[in-house]
Amino acid sequence: MNDYFDSRFPSVEALRAQAKKRMPGFAFDYLDGGCFSEVNLDRNTREVREVQLKPYYLRDYNGASQETELFGETYDSPFGMAPVGLQGLMWPHCCEILAQACKDHNLPFVLSTVGTASIEKISEITEGKFWFQLYHPAEPELRDKLLDRAWAAGCRTLVILADTPTFAYRPKEIKNGLSIPPRMTLRNVYQMCTHPTWSFSQLAAGAPEFQTMKPYIPKGLNMKHLGLFMNKTFSGRLNEARIQPIRDRWKGNIVIKGIVNPEDAEAAIAQGLDGLWVSNHGGRQLDSGQSTIKPLHDLSKEFKGKIKLMMDSGLRSGPDVANALASGADFTFLGRTPMYGVGALGKKGGHHTFTMLKRQLQQVMEQVACEKVSDFPQHLIEQ
Ligand SMILES: Cc1cc2nc3c(=O)[nH]c(=O)nc-3n(C[C@H](O)[C@H](O)[C@H](O)COP(=O)(O)O)c2cc1C
Repeated sequence: MNDYFDSRFPSVEALRAQAKKRMPGFAFDYLDGGCFSEVNLDRNTREVREVQLKPYYLRDYNGASQETELFGETYDSPFGMAPVGLQGLMWPHCCEILAQACKDHNLPFVLSTVGTASIEKISEITEGKFWFQLYHPAEPELRDKLLDRAWAAGCRTLVILADTPTFAYRPKEIKNGLSIPPRMTLRNVYQMCTHPTWSFSQLAAGAPEFQTMKPYIPKGLNMKHLGLFMNKTFSGRLNEARIQPIRDRWKGNIVIKGIVNPEDAEAAIAQGLDGLWVSNHGGRQLDSGQSTIKPLHDLSKEFKGKIKLMMDSGLRSGPDVANALASGADFTFLGRTPMYGVGALGKKGGHHTFTMLKRQLQQVMEQVACEKVSDFPQHLIEQ
């Protein structure tokens, strides 16, 4: 399965088009959409593609290796699966499918607190080699329970989220009345009926649930009350006082996700965090925000070598990953791209997408004569 590749879908554009056909509209919109007018969403990919690389054609060249060391682990490629909530709503068992694909490809899988598989299930699939992204619970007791569960399950890298201080304004989700399980509006029911593969697999899998959070959700809540419970349970706004007890308790690595300016980067470093993940949540929070490639480039000038730098948002291909690495990222993550893969190809979608990305990145490395991932910055043409 590891090198599974379906040549009908050699690009993310092909995967996205197929996913759009196979997923009900409300599920596809949730995955595909951004906030407000989707300006930031478009800017992410557009600007990462403005990066230009310098090839060396007459250099001695000994071949390319994508192996990348991060926090003591050596991964097969310099990219991983970003945390995505409600994955099972977009495709049945999507969370488990992508965790398995990451395990088989030796790539990091990051489980969201609001994922549809539990910490323990993902630990079983990945044999304990997974990362956990914590949405910040308002109650310290719940926070500590989640941290202890993740640690006991083998997780050693924790991701805390800085870029969701408030609920996003996403017109498509508002219109679709998105919830878990999906609301039975006439429109949503029609969309399910016209996407039988999705609906039958969803029936077989059972309605998606917030498996990690399940023990803490009072039984029998209707949708409205579940929404209120989640609102009350998580307090998105992080600050130094909220980070400190996490740093004190978590003995592994802590990565802070959503950092896009040097002031926040300095504060994170001062608190003893181990990684900065430059992200704008895939254009889902702040429409007038920068694309991530720009702050990545600036932050890498100041912080590369002092702390691990990761980046996501807008990466859709091997060349996009190459451009991020050349701009200073030590490692990259993708959210939508592997999800489109699963929407298009179901169980095989994760394997296909990771094989595709590896092949594409390999071609770029061989073309520009880059032997190691850490050599990419030597190929950047400063603009
Ligand atoms: C449908 C969807 C759900 C997401 N849910 C979460 C989440 O639960 N936690 C989180 O930290 N980030 C979440 N993200 C953001 C991703 O982790 C990542 O930052 C983003 O998808 C990167 O952009 P890309 O999709 O362009 O690759 C979500 C993104 C999408 C598309």
